[in-house]
Amino acid sequence: MSRLPDVCVIGAGSSGIAGVKALHQRGFDFDCFEKSDRVGGNWVYKNRNGMSSAYRSLHINTSRERMEFPDFPMPKSYPDFPHHTHIAEYFDNYVDHFGFRDRITFETGVERAQLASDGAWEVTIDGGETRRYDALMVANGHHWDARWPEPAFPGSDRFAGVQMHSHQYAGEDPNFFRDKRVVVLGMGNSAMDIAVEASFSAAAVYLAARRGAWVIPKYLFGRPLDQISTQAGVPLRVRQAFFRTLLKVGVGDMERYGLPKPEHGVLQAHPTISDDILSRIAHGEITPKPNIARLTERTVVFADGSEVEADIVVYCTGYKVTFPFFDPALIAAPGNDLPLFRRVFHPRIPSVFFIGLLQPLGAIMPIAAIQSEWVSDYLSGRYALPAPAAMRADIEHERERMFKRYVASKRHTMQVDFEDYVLATGRERARGAKRAAAAA
Ligand SMILES: Cc1cc2nc3c(=O)[nH]c(=O)nc-3n(C[C@H](O)[C@H](O)[C@H](O)COP(=O)(O)OP(=O)(O)OC[C@H]3O[C@@H](n4cnc5c(N)ncnc54)[C@H](O)[C@@H]3O)c2cc1C
Ligand SMILES: NC(=O)c1ccc[n+]([C@@H]2O[C@H](COP(=O)([O-])OP(=O)(O)OC[C@H]3O[C@@H](n4cnc5c(N)ncnc54)[C@H](OP(=O)(O)O)[C@@H]3O)[C@@H](O)[C@H]2O)c1
Repeated sequence: MSRLPDVCVIGAGSSGIAGVKALHQRGFDFDCFEKSDRVGGNWVYKNRNGMSSAYRSLHINTSRERMEFPDFPMPKSYPDFPHHTHIAEYFDNYVDHFGFRDRITFETGVERAQLASDGAWEVTIDGGETRRYDALMVANGHHWDARWPEPAFPGSDRFAGVQMHSHQYAGEDPNFFRDKRVVVLGMGNSAMDIAVEASFSAAAVYLAARRGAWVIPKYLFGRPLDQISTQAGVPLRVRQAFFRTLLKVGVGDMERYGLPKPEHGVLQAHPTISDDILSRIAHGEITPKPNIARLTERTVVFADGSEVEADIVVYCTGYKVTFPFFDPALIAAPGNDLPLFRRVFHPRIPSVFFIGLLQPLGAIMPIAAIQSEWVSDYLSGRYALPAPAAMRADIEHERERMFKRYVASKRHTMQVDFEDYVLATGRERARGAKRAAAAA
């Protein structure tokens, strides 16, 4: 029997530990390098890797049962939407439960990963040591490299107050926003959480947005809304009609709150989830505004010409997908776009795999677990990829569908529907298993 390939895993956040668990259980030789002194990545508040975007008050917005790994349920004592401390603890317990902590090399970053001419990877770690691997699993996360407004708003170089990105907001000082006039930009989940948090102590909070969003509550009818899901394969327009009705009944029109009317249909943007934002707006504690047009020394001027005095501007403008260890000529994601076969396999490089590099309507973790098993199948010869032309056609087809469906934005370059992705992956794995068996 031929030996299993040696694998290098980059990162031990929730995606990396899913990868490590699969490799560990299947008997692979591998190294996993993790910059931090612990697992959990983004979910480790004030992570010493400096990469976590978690703030003190952060709770998950995908419910516990959505987010948990299928073979390791979160404790029932956790609330439906646990705090980041619960989530970090859960990932720690996952590693101990499956017994692979000693397979992770902590406090060791991957500085460079170079593809050798024979298809192997030469991985250089902190300190300069280079090791060779047959395969590379990339799980370095995609929510740590702040994307500031591009280009910067006119006048931002003259603004005398604080300008910051949501990535920098740790929320450790309860007086940070106290009596300040705060402008929060964005309609994603960072903007929702930070605007709400600021609204309890600030003198004024303005929520600026360049387009509307459907604000989805965490709860509806007494249960987490993300557990009221439709079956895989249900046509988009049927799902949309279902969710539109739910939102109409449970929330009402966005314009009633003074927010811009979304120009897209429900389920055509990454979900903006908040139980609190509409209430804080309705209580006059947050004032919706259109996009920022420019800044002056003391004020922010909005696209409708209105102007407010401001002390702090928080840009909740999302993240860049970056791989600092790759030569960008080999692998990069300009505009956050990295075409992959089913969000895992590189179309030209058969020895590199991406775990958790997607934005599901649903949580990333159970998908990362499936992807990890899938890659392990591939590396052990139990799964074979389609022919290159078929793979490229599949990638194009998926991308066309995604870009057609979602609002054009750098945040919509890797969207998947949870149930559909899981079903399609299962089917593809079965097809690939037959291909592998036929080729054996
Ligand atoms: C504020 C916030 C809230 C979120 N809430 C949710 C949610 O409720 N539900 C959900 O499903 N998703 C949520 N997300 C998305 C988030 O991406 C996932 O929850 C999760 O963190 C993804 O895990 P990951 O392992 O892919 O990345 P990360 O958690 O970012 O982990 C990446 C790991 O790789 C390590 N690493 C990076 N580069 C290197 C290197 N060169 N060498 C060695 N190690 C390296 C890092 O140290 C880190 O430990 C949220 C994101 C943000 C920013
Ligand atoms: N509680 C939680 O669990 C929680 C909290 C925070 C974040 N998250 C997750 O973390 C990820 C990142 O979320 P995020 O909110 O930080 O980023 P995001 O989802 O990428 O949202 C960025 C927002 O900023 C807007 N924007 C970007 N550039 C802009 C510009 N130049 N001018 C004006 N507006 C601009 C975007 O508008 P367009 O749509 O027009 O591009 C969008 O509204 C998501 O997966 C999210 O679900 C979860």
